[in-house]
Amino acid sequence: MKYLHDNLVTLVNILNDQAFHDGTALGDQLGMTRAAVWKMIKKLQDYGVDIDSVKGRGYCIKKPLQLLDRAKIKTLLRHRKLSIDVYEKVDSTNDQIKQSISREVAHICIAEQQLQGRGRLGRPWASPFGQNIYLSMAIPLQVDLSSLSGLSLILGVSLCESLTHHLSLPDDALKVKWPNDVYFYGKKLAGILVEIQAESHGYCQLIIGVGLNVNMKNASIDAINQPWTSLANETGHDIDRNHLVATIIDHCFNDVDVFVKHGLSEFTQQWQHYDYLCGKKIEAMVNQKKIIGTASGIDAQGLLVIKDGNNKAWHCSSGDTRLIKK
Ligand code: BTN
Repeated sequence: MKYLHDNLVTLVNILNDQAFHDGTALGDQLGMTRAAVWKMIKKLQDYGVDIDSVKGRGYCIKKPLQLLDRAKIKTLLRHRKLSIDVYEKVDSTNDQIKQSISREVAHICIAEQQLQGRGRLGRPWASPFGQNIYLSMAIPLQVDLSSLSGLSLILGVSLCESLTHHLSLPDDALKVKWPNDVYFYGKKLAGILVEIQAESHGYCQLIIGVGLNVNMKNASIDAINQPWTSLANETGHDIDRNHLVATIIDHCFNDVDVFVKHGLSEFTQQWQHYDYLCGKKIEAMVNQKKIIGTASGIDAQGLLVIKDGNNKAWHCSSGDTRLIKK
C-alpha cells in the first residue's frame, strides 16, 4: 500500500494544461530533482497515463487527469468527524481500512487503484488507476447486529440518490438490483460490499465498500463479465471525482444514521422507486432449492420476495439471482 503523495497530484495538475513542461522546471516547481520528476512521470506512464516525453521539450500529458485530492475532499465534506486516507494503490480498500478502524471516529479509505478489488460472492472488481471511485467507510456502531438486516439495501438506494442529485440524472436512469448492485439503464455502474465486524461490548464496525465506475471508458477491462457502464460513458463528459466522492460519503453517513434510528421502513418508498427486479421473472436459490418466480419487492428484513407460479412467496437471502425475462 502507498499513500497518494501530494507531489504526484501537483505534478498532474501542472501537466493538465497539456503543454510541454521541462523536467528541470517541473523539479523547481515541486522542490525535487529532475531525476525524481522523471521517476514520477515513469510511474504515471506505468499506470497507463498517456504522457509524451520528448527530448529537449519535456513532458506533455495527452489527456487531462484529475487525481484524488485528500485536502480538497476534506474541505468538501459536510461530515467533519471522520478521518480520511487516500492511497495511490492498495490491494483492497475494504481490507486496508481494517488497519485504521477506531471506536471514536468513522474512517474513510479511498484509493486510485486496487490490485485485488473484491466484489460480492468472491468476484473480482476491476480497479484501474485514476479513473473510478474505490471507497471504503468504516463506521463504528453500538447496536444489536440483528437490527442491521436490510442495511445493505439502503446503501444502494443512498448511492443512487446522491448520484441522481449531484449529476442531475434522469429520474429513471438508476436502479438497484437487490441487494445493492447499481445499474444505469440496465448496465452495471456500481457495486457495494458490506462487511460487519463484531467487537466487544456491543460494538461493531460497519465496513461499506463502494466501487463506482466514473471515468473508465475503454473496454480493455477483461475482468468485467457483464454489461457495464461508467458515469462518463453515460453523461458524455469526465466527472470530478473529488466532489463526487465527498457527496457520496455525506449522503451515505446521513442515510446510515437514519437507518440506525428508524430502520428499513423509513426507506420503503425509495426502495420501491429504485427496485430493478420488481415484476421481473427471476431464478434464485432459497434454502438450497431453485426457485423460479416473479420478484415482488422485499420483506421487513430486506429479504427478496419471489412469488412462484402458485403465488407462494419465497424469501430469498442469496444475492445470486438470475434474470430470466425482462
Ligand atoms: C459487487 O458488485 O460485487 C461489489 C463490488 C464492491 C467493490 C468495492 S471497490 C471498494 C471496495 N474494495 C473492494 O475490494 N471492494 C469494494
